[in-house]
Amino acid sequence: MKDKMANDNAQSGWRAVAIAAAQEQAAEEGRHTWQRCMGQLGEGEPLPFDYRFEHVAQVTALALRLGRLLEADLEVIEAAGWLHDVRKEQPSHGTAGAAAARAILAATDFPSAKIEAVAEAIRRHVGLYREPGAPPLEPIEAAILWDADKLTKLGAQSILISLSTPHVFGKDMAERWRYVAEFADQVLGRTVESMNTIPGRKMAERRYRSTLALLSLWAREMRETGVDLQGEHTFEIPFDYDGLSQE
Ligand SMILES: [Fe+2]
Ligand SMILES: [Fe+2]
Repeated sequence: MKDKMANDNAQSGWRAVAIAAAQEQAAEEGRHTWQRCMGQLGEGEPLPFDYRFEHVAQVTALALRLGRLLEADLEVIEAAGWLHDVRKEQPSHGTAGAAAARAILAATDFPSAKIEAVAEAIRRHVGLYREPGAPPLEPIEAAILWDADKLTKLGAQSILISLSTPHVFGKDMAERWRYVAEFADQVLGRTVESMNTIPGRKMAERRYRSTLALLSLWAREMRETGVDLQGEHTFEIPFDYDGLSQE
């Protein structure tokens, strides 16, 4: 019992450091993003939305979920999740993030023999899709981080998140719909095809159906106000949702 508690305390050392690094990066990136569109934020003024930290926390949770299903190394996965975008504002943020993660974790009680696996997963997590037919990333921890990162681009919540960022400022609702729909149409189908793991792929397919369903519901309401968007994209809309009529 004592050993277990000592072990938990030891673990909280690296975890707290990794989370703090993720929070610091997210706050800095958020300030840059929002200042670009809103002007100066006052000292200590909260961000309108801390997108990056939400993303990093979701990626970590999803990666741990996949990691448990696939019996991967959960320490490697969690550290990689918290730190994967820790150099997001730098070019080649995967490589830069891997180098940063090595340095950050080396100064903690994180098992030194596992640091390289964390760095390698971070180095390889970038890109929204992979070459068609490319074999799954290896080792499994790199595959899982990639899948978890991409799962956050899929689904109803990803639409709500993208509508909460400055990217859509100045766009009317039809333009916002097109912005989301074009991304779903041109990118996200390939993302689903690129998943490395079977449970990742299943979640990706379910989330992609949610993306398309939400776009469809949104388009229907726009149509009721005289704006017809649906014809611009030929989605296969999966209306097999509870509570939705076929109309
Ligand atoms: Fe990233
Ligand atoms: Fe990410």
